[in-house]
Amino acid sequence: MKAIVIGGAGYVGGHLCKALAGAGIDFLVYDNLSTGHADFVRWSPLVQGDINDTVLLKRTMEDNGVDTVFHFAAKAYVGESVVDPEKYYVNNVRGSISLLEAMRGAGVRHIVFSSTCAVYGQPDRMPINEQTTPLPINPYGRTKLMIESALADYSAAYGIVYAALRYFNAAGADRGGEIGELHDPEPHVIPRILMAAAGQLPAIEVMGTDYPTPDGTAVRDYIHVDDLAEFHLRAVRHIRASGESITVNLGTGAGKSVRELIDAAERVTGCKIPVIDSPRRPGDPPSLVADPAKAEQLLGYRAQYSDVDTVMATAWQWLQQTSAVSSPSLQARA
Ligand SMILES: NC(=O)c1ccc[n+]([C@@H]2O[C@H](COP(=O)([O-])OP(=O)(O)OC[C@H]3O[C@@H](n4cnc5c(N)ncnc54)[C@H](O)[C@@H]3O)[C@@H](O)[C@H]2O)c1
Repeated sequence: MKAIVIGGAGYVGGHLCKALAGAGIDFLVYDNLSTGHADFVRWSPLVQGDINDTVLLKRTMEDNGVDTVFHFAAKAYVGESVVDPEKYYVNNVRGSISLLEAMRGAGVRHIVFSSTCAVYGQPDRMPINEQTTPLPINPYGRTKLMIESALADYSAAYGIVYAALRYFNAAGADRGGEIGELHDPEPHVIPRILMAAAGQLPAIEVMGTDYPTPDGTAVRDYIHVDDLAEFHLRAVRHIRASGESITVNLGTGAGKSVRELIDAAERVTGCKIPVIDSPRRPGDPPSLVADPAKAEQLLGYRAQYSDVDTVMATAWQWLQQTSAVSSPSLQARA
């Protein structure tokens, strides 16, 4: 296998790169560094480019003998997608079509695509399995579902073989401490809780305390990035060996509330975390929890590092490191 990791300078893609290197798989990263970091590309060459540059993508694949694509490159913030949908349609939809065109041109058939639980919208029944009808409620979810549709059509017509991996919430950081989550601004709840613990934020805002959940705060399914990386390795081996495309949820099946996250963060850090209770954010469902059975059966793996204390401890170790290192992009958050 010779892989190209599109978006490999980002959070989830960076962790896959470390796992690919660990598995002895040859690869390169292609990324425009819009939200990624050159510092995260430690295990392969980096080609700096945009997925909308079909010519550069095709040439990069041909020049490097690529036969497999991992596609992480996307805009990925629900709120921003509502305010500025064009960014999402241009980057995620047009960009992914450009990537598929480049793959066809270069004769590359295998692709692992980062999809999301946002394709489901707000289903009533938990946990969510893959039979649940996708009904996304924001442009981000709609763009991801459009790409899933394109993959299915390209598969039927042109023989592309794909794995569409619907992650729930990626969380935690490399257990070896080399990479982690680093967005500016950081919208995700776990790093924000830890930033509040470290005094980098005045408090953590809990948006919604009157949801119909056990403690009134929103429940999500957090899966450790190292588990996501392992699922990617298994998914690519599965589609390459079987020639069959798959669409699966990646989660744990065990939801955690925002209050449970804060409790875990206080346990792990030993810090009292200031909390501000706020109203619900429009469009946020009370609960989103995966039924991970299909992925577990097909790929023979169950998340191993996704208990809340491991997630929190690895993310905390990473936050403390990024506050101390000398790289300019890492210092930006410190
Ligand atoms: N983080 C999560 O909880 C989560 C959950 C579900 C799905 N996802 C999906 O996983 C993928 C990775 O998410 P992440 O959290 O690592 O995001 P990220 O922003 O850290 O990584 C995305 C990477 O893609 C690059 N990129 C973006 N647009 C590009 C373009 N036009 N051309 C080339 N490179 C481009 C960025 O520079 C960055 O390195 C995304 O597709 C996201 O939708 C993430």
